[in-house]
Amino acid sequence: MTWTTSILILTLGATLCSCAILESVADLNKLNLKFDFIVVGGGNAGNVVANRLSENPEHSVLVLEAGGSNANVLPIIVPFFSPRATPNTPQDWNYSTVPQAALNHRSVDYPRGFVLGGSSSVNYLAYTRGTKEDYDRWAKVTGDDGWSWDKLVPYMKKNEHFVLPSDFHNATKEFNPAVHGFTGINSVTLHNFATPIDSRIIETTTELAEYPFNLDMNSGNHLGIGWEQQTVKDGSRSSSATSYLAPQFVARPNLNVLLNARVTRVLPTTSNAFRTVEFVQDLNGEKYTITAAKEVILSSGSVGTPNILLHSGIGNSSALTSVGIKPLHNLPSVGQNMSDHPLLLLSFLVNSTDTWETAERNTTLAAEQLAQWNATGTGPLGDSPLTHLGFFRIPDNSSIFKTFPDPAAGPNTAHFEFMFGNGKFRAPPATGNFFSITPVVVSPSARGSVILNSSDLFADPVIDPNLLGDDLDFFIMREALKSAFRFAAAPAWKDYIISPFGINSTATDAELDEFIRENAGSIFHPVGTSKMSPKGATWGVVDPDLRVKGLSGLRVVDVSIAPLIPATHTQVSAYIIGERASDIIKAAWN
Ligand SMILES: Cc1cc2nc3c(=O)[nH]c(=O)nc-3n(C[C@H](O)[C@H](O)[C@H](O)COP(=O)(O)OP(=O)(O)OC[C@H]3O[C@@H](n4cnc5c(N)ncnc54)[C@H](O)[C@@H]3O)c2cc1C
Ligand SMILES: *[C@@H]1O[C@H](CO)[C@@H](O)[C@H](O)[C@H]1NC(C)=O
Ligand SMILES: *[C@@H]1O[C@H](CO)[C@@H](O)[C@H](O)[C@H]1NC(C)=O
Ligand SMILES: *[C@@H]1O[C@H](CO)[C@@H](O)[C@H](O)[C@H]1NC(C)=O
Ligand SMILES: *[C@@H]1O[C@H](CO)[C@@H](O)[C@H](O)[C@H]1NC(C)=O
Ligand SMILES: *[C@@H]1O[C@H](CO)[C@@H](O)[C@H](O)[C@H]1NC(C)=O
Ligand SMILES: *[C@@H]1O[C@H](CO)[C@@H](O)[C@H](O)[C@H]1NC(C)=O
Ligand SMILES: *[C@@H]1O[C@H](CO)[C@@H](O)[C@H](O)[C@H]1NC(C)=O
Ligand SMILES: *[C@@H]1O[C@H](CO)[C@@H](O)[C@H](O)[C@H]1NC(C)=O
Ligand SMILES: *[C@@H]1O[C@H](CO)[C@@H](O)[C@H](O)[C@H]1NC(C)=O
Ligand SMILES: *[C@@H]1O[C@H](CO)[C@@H](O)[C@H](O)[C@H]1NC(C)=O
Repeated sequence: MTWTTSILILTLGATLCSCAILESVADLNKLNLKFDFIVVGGGNAGNVVANRLSENPEHSVLVLEAGGSNANVLPIIVPFFSPRATPNTPQDWNYSTVPQAALNHRSVDYPRGFVLGGSSSVNYLAYTRGTKEDYDRWAKVTGDDGWSWDKLVPYMKKNEHFVLPSDFHNATKEFNPAVHGFTGINSVTLHNFATPIDSRIIETTTELAEYPFNLDMNSGNHLGIGWEQQTVKDGSRSSSATSYLAPQFVARPNLNVLLNARVTRVLPTTSNAFRTVEFVQDLNGEKYTITAAKEVILSSGSVGTPNILLHSGIGNSSALTSVGIKPLHNLPSVGQNMSDHPLLLLSFLVNSTDTWETAERNTTLAAEQLAQWNATGTGPLGDSPLTHLGFFRIPDNSSIFKTFPDPAAGPNTAHFEFMFGNGKFRAPPATGNFFSITPVVVSPSARGSVILNSSDLFADPVIDPNLLGDDLDFFIMREALKSAFRFAAAPAWKDYIISPFGINSTATDAELDEFIRENAGSIFHPVGTSKMSPKGATWGVVDPDLRVKGLSGLRVVDVSIAPLIPATHTQVSAYIIGERASDIIKAAWN
């Protein structure tokens, strides 16, 4: 299919099928429908569940999404513009964290997608599954082998529709087709546009043994450096909204989506069953309630889901009482034990003008790039800004392991990641061209929380990811920063990298630590606020079948259920959770 016809079909499809994506409750009422399942949050995982459950024409599904439509929003659609999709845009919840002790008490922006597709509509498009060890550890801690890597691979393939890059270059040396899915729903591809850093990164993998090449980081073993795979189709973002809610799916009469529908609470329907949801379309307007015949599925994400549970009286009863909320079900783990990945904004001044900064400073060039993207889906704007990713471990004999156990899921799982980019993230200075290596701590041991400070249904929850909040995480970040300096000193970068920007590679540990405290933030991968634990465990929020412990009619299906954070970007986990949850729910209602 050519680019032009695919645009045409998308446009036509959107017009034909607007019937099932509704904007107002009045339109929903006109349909006079009853719903078996109500999915709260049309985000990354929620739309998977909505799609899969509505495969059975006997099951009617309603999705309630707080945000608006993903259609025609350029920063969402154009892959390279993903850093503009958030923070503080109409598609963002606009959260920020409480002051972070390890970051010189800075509060940092904490974007979450407020739009159909949720965070899959606003993320940076990196497609990474995590390691076999990550999921095998989930299976072990939950006592459910269904969460192991081998059992989840079929769900990865059900999700994935691997497609050739939009410039049709020969990508044989950039990925391993054997580990991919080619018949799934969500498009994944390689970059279409070569940048000047590509060959130098690959050359470095042959020069320094510390940074081996990995043909495919999605094989279950991610250590080493590889080409970034991205959730892109024909040069545009592939999200759960564009894929699982594509026109052929929303055309199903038993699948309805209501936008601008903000759920405030789940309410008891009968004793111990929570199948009623309360929502508003206008923060000052009427409250509506609707009851699912079978189940309510909370898919509101790692901030939204605990927020709704807590306002509903499901959480730590004494903490709820102290903020004036009537406790209905004591579940102290709600919102607790949150994990996230801290990152460090690090860049290098380079001897080149062929970087992002040049188009950022030249509106003619920027317009040319947009026109190329618009006409053919190719060029620099058709790709995520991250060209390559690398996953590494600190040495096993590191001094820190005398006081902390190894936080990684196993010996083939990383402690830190590098994300490479052909320019500087966030507010480049007026002059200079840059290369970025963004280190990320992917096996953190610090834990944070999402709690309430008020019974006001519309107040932001109090978000504390506790970034770099213990010595182990800080140690890993310092080692990652030193490693980035070693990487940049490889012969491949001679004549290219001039110097690190804002820090010296000869800096003392104290100077490195201060640089980290000033420049670290979050990569926005919160998980674990509605953790899975074994059936019958005294901690945790959901059982391995994702039912809220001790209740009926209510499940959680989003990354908040992750018992431990995978050592990687989290959107694939959200897709996998959505896929497996759908099978579990279908089996329960067969
Ligand atoms: C800026 C950014 C960049 C990222 N980059 C990457 C990346 O490159 N690769 C990667 O793998 N991951 C990335 N992530 C993380 C990844 O996108 C998320 O982990 C994942 O999408 C979360 O999926 P989810 O289904 O748990 O939640 P979400 O996708 O966030 O879905 C939650 C949905 O629920 C809705 N909602 C919330 N509360 C309510 C309510 N009260 N009523 C109704 N609806 C509600 C929200 O609006 C949203 O649509 C990034 C995240 C962000 C924010
Ligand atoms: C976030 O801020 C933007 C810009 O001010 C606004 O349009 C949007 O509605 C805000 N999001 C929420 C959830 O209020
Ligand atoms: C792609 O490149 C590989 C080697 O890198 C080669 O074996 C293969 O024939 C090429 N395929 C095409 C279609 O040119
Ligand atoms: C519940 O919250 C209270 C504070 O209100 C706290 O003291 C207690 O430790 C919490 N319980 C659990 C099990 O976390
Ligand atoms: C946090 O998680 C640990 C397991 O890692 C568990 O033992 C503990 O009870 C949890 N705390 C809460 C408040 O859920
Ligand atoms: C800006 O970009 C245009 C188009 O590529 C180019 O012709 C022009 O010389 C550039 N301007 C400057 C000041 O570099
Ligand atoms: C893309 O091209 C179409 C058709 O020429 C035009 O209507 C539209 O405005 C262009 N979009 C952008 C973002 O340039
Ligand atoms: C770890 O082992 C390497 C070689 O095996 C050695 O060079 C290094 O000094 C050791 N580091 C520590 C902290 O012991
Ligand atoms: C808690 O609420 C109070 C009053 O509404 C507010 O002033 C304070 O900043 C809030 N604290 C946090 C951590 O959000
Ligand atoms: C910049 O690159 C040119 C070649 O393109 C080289 O001659 C010059 O030495 C480089 N300068 C630095 C500071 O590396
Ligand atoms: C780097 O070191 C040089 C020389 O020691 C010094 O002049 C400069 O201020 C340092 N830069 C930073 C960012 O610390």
